[in-house]
Amino acid sequence: MKVDVLLGLQWGDEGKGKVVDVLTPRYDIVARFQGGPNAGHTLEFDNKKYVLRSIPSGVFQNGQVNIVGNGVVLDPVLFMEEAKALEESGVDIRKALKLAKKIHLILPTHRLLDAANEKAKGGAKIGTTGKGIGPTYTDKISRNGLRLGNTLMDDFTARYEAARDRHITMLKGLGAEATNLAELEAKWMEAVDYLKTYDIIDGEQFINDALKQDKRVLCEGAQGTMLDVDYGSYPFVTSSNTITAGACSGLGVAPNKIGDVYGIFKAYCTRVGSGPFPTELFDETGKKIRDLGHEYGAVTGRERRCGWIDLVALKYAIMINGVTQLIMMKSDVLDGFPTIKACVAYKDKNGNTLTHMPYSIDEGEITPVFVELPGWNTDLTKVKSEDQFPKEFKDYIAFLEKELETPITILSVGPDREQTIVRDSFKS
Ligand code: GDP
Ligand code: IMO
Ligand code: MG
Repeated sequence: MKVDVLLGLQWGDEGKGKVVDVLTPRYDIVARFQGGPNAGHTLEFDNKKYVLRSIPSGVFQNGQVNIVGNGVVLDPVLFMEEAKALEESGVDIRKALKLAKKIHLILPTHRLLDAANEKAKGGAKIGTTGKGIGPTYTDKISRNGLRLGNTLMDDFTARYEAARDRHITMLKGLGAEATNLAELEAKWMEAVDYLKTYDIIDGEQFINDALKQDKRVLCEGAQGTMLDVDYGSYPFVTSSNTITAGACSGLGVAPNKIGDVYGIFKAYCTRVGSGPFPTELFDETGKKIRDLGHEYGAVTGRERRCGWIDLVALKYAIMINGVTQLIMMKSDVLDGFPTIKACVAYKDKNGNTLTHMPYSIDEGEITPVFVELPGWNTDLTKVKSEDQFPKEFKDYIAFLEKELETPITILSVGPDREQTIVRDSFKS
């Protein structure tokens, strides 16, 4: 058996959580492979709303195994909060969840370093989620990290203290102080003890054994391709590989074990934090998209920047990820727009038309070239099947499929689980 991967093609918040939940009944295992509590994946069903950060979005269906893979960075304190909240809402989280031993841990000082790094960057700050993501992955790559497996060993406290002391020195170098550390530390140690009560496994072995037994695995991406540390709008990116290849390294799954790749995108585009965004709207239209789409961060509550769909960036993301099927979200947000724009190319400084992603999409380097399409002026939120789609919406879908050379097989027309249209062309 192969694993299927579902991941974001834009700057995150495409609606990954919702669709993973919808697809979970078709799978035996759901696995997160990168990122950490910088993610905020929203699910809505039975008039209730849940936001997941580190825990996979397959925990609300029945009986699937959910794995947090080794490519994820985990904050014990935030994990404990998230897991306890799920327990309170009736999810048997201990039964549903397994954690890979090779997961890297976010220390309290990683979060302090994240804040200090941002402060030191001044106007050039990334606008991170402040969850310590960058410093934790930095420690992983520089071979200084603490892993979940370490918590099970006798020398854990000594290792923790060495890491903490190194971080304190780094903080001093940045002109910052580790205030309230004793309090943060006590809470963190308590959360580590809580973490140790979960099923901690050799994740790579577990998944490969499951594949041998023909179990079906869905890998859940976090962030989006334009936030990938290699292929995103560097340096305004996150610190992990958010692309399909990240599922291989983050779970221990070989490249030839990748099956379908579901690329998910919004019918328009958003971004949180700093960095280039060629199709961003600064006018009333952008504000209207933000209001109608409730475009505020699930984790930080920050306003999301809004703009039209960018097909140059989407084509690039489809190529990098080997996307086999597309999933379009939030089409309903555009219901009332008389016309809709799509960026089909960029113009560079010399007036050349670019249809491939250039090295830099910084402001001043390129300007977007738009086409304008008719809107559908219909409430899509009540639509139950594709034969009820208005003509203009069908034309928009056909236009995107032609431009992107990939079928759109699932459409979302509202935040609820039920507001999802799986087309006949969907393959799983
Ligand atoms: P994720 O990080 O990719 O899981 O996405 P987020 O949860 O951060 O953001 C997506 C937001 O859009 C959430 O508030 C969802 O409830 C909401 N949402 C998802 N699909 C749709 C849709 O089709 N229509 C509308 N109006 N909202 C949606
Ligand atoms: P989900 O999984 C949207 C952004 C931050 C910042 C940059 C780096 O919900 O789609 P980090 O804290 O990772 O060092 O921040 O990446 N970012 C996200 N934007 N959705 C996310 O996750 C994000 N995770 C990080 O806003 O610009
Ligand atoms: Mg999100």
